[in-house]
Amino acid sequence: MEELINIRLGDQGDSLILIDQTKLPGELVYIEIKTREELFDAITKLKVRGAPAIGIAAAYGYYLCALKDIGEPDFFRRMDDAERYLASARPTAVNLTWALSRMRQALKRSALLPREEIPAILLAEANAILEEDIASNLKISEYGLSLLNEGNGVLTHCNAGPLATSRYGTALGPLLLAVERGVDIKVFADETRPLLQGARLTAFELQRAGADVTLICDDMAAEVMKEGKVNAVFVGCDRAAANGDAANKIGSLGLAVMAKHFGIPFYMFAPLSTVDMETKSGKDIRIEQRDPGEVTELMFPQRMAPEGVKVYNPAFDVVDHELIAGIVTEEGIIRAPFEENFKAAFERKKAREEK
Ligand code: MRU
Repeated sequence: MEELINIRLGDQGDSLILIDQTKLPGELVYIEIKTREELFDAITKLKVRGAPAIGIAAAYGYYLCALKDIGEPDFFRRMDDAERYLASARPTAVNLTWALSRMRQALKRSALLPREEIPAILLAEANAILEEDIASNLKISEYGLSLLNEGNGVLTHCNAGPLATSRYGTALGPLLLAVERGVDIKVFADETRPLLQGARLTAFELQRAGADVTLICDDMAAEVMKEGKVNAVFVGCDRAAANGDAANKIGSLGLAVMAKHFGIPFYMFAPLSTVDMETKSGKDIRIEQRDPGEVTELMFPQRMAPEGVKVYNPAFDVVDHELIAGIVTEEGIIRAPFEENFKAAFERKKAREEK
C-alpha cells in the first residue's frame, strides 16, 4: 500500500506540500504552500489538521518565512511576527505553539551566526520535530497495542491517524499495527459531526490499511457499548493539562462518561509534545469556537437547519482526568496521579535524549 505523506517540503525546498484533508476521501489532492497566509488558511480551514500535524506544518512554515526574509534588515522582528501570526491560527492544540516555540529557540541559538547559515539550522529543527514525532508514534502504537487482546473491539472518535501526525498516528497507531501483525481487532469509528473527520479520514485510513472498521453515527456509540462490542475507547488529544484533564475533539467527553457507565476503559493518546504542564487544569484550556455554518450548512447543498437558528459549535471538549484510564505517550502509559507521573515521564525522556 502506497504510504500517504501528508506534509513534506516541495522539490525546490521553498514550499510545503500538504494533502488537502478537506477533499478526502473523494479526492487525493496535494496543495503547495508558499506563504504564511496560505499556511494560516490551510490550518484554519483544516486542510492540515490534527495536533501533531499542525505543529509540524507550522515548523516548516516558520522555516519558509525565514528563507524569504533572511535578507531583511528587520529579520528577527519579522520572525516574531510570523510566530505570533501562525500561532493564532487555532487555539486548542498545544503542538502549534510548542513547535513554533522550539523553532524560535533554534533561531535564538543561531542569532550570532552569519545570516546565511540560519535557514539550514531552522530546516534541521523542523526535520527533527518531524522525525521525533515519527519515533514517538511508533512507541505510542506499541504501548497502545499492549492494552488489547485478540478479538477486542475498539471505539474511536475523530481522526488520530497518520494524516493527523507525521506517520502511523497516535490512537490509530495500535490499530494499524494490529493489522500489520494479523491481530483481529474490530474498530468502530464515530463519524464525528460536524466536520466528519471520523467518516472521511479515520474510516478512509483504516479501510485502506485493511482493518476491520465499522462506521457509526456519533449517537450510536452508547448502543454499541451496551451491546458489549467495545472493550476500550481510544482517542487522540489536543492538549493535556498538568492534572490530566485533556482536550480532544468535541464528543470525547460524552464518550468518556458513557465508557465509565459501561465499565469500559477510556484511553487518550498523546506524544509528550501535547502535554502542557503550564496549563494547570482543563478549565485553563481555550476551546476553539468555529463557524456556525459548519453545523447548519456543510453537508447538503440545501441548508440542514432553519435560517437564523442559534448555533453553538465548540470544536473540542475537555475530558476530566477522573474519566481517563490512561494517557498513552512515548514514555509509557501515564495513569493517575497524572501531574506526578507526567513529570517523571518528561524526566525519563530528557535522560534518554541526553544519553
Ligand atoms: O479539529 P481537528 O480535526 O484538528 O481535531 C483533531 C483531534 O481532535 C485529534 O483527535 C487530535 O488532534 C489528536 S491527532 C493525533
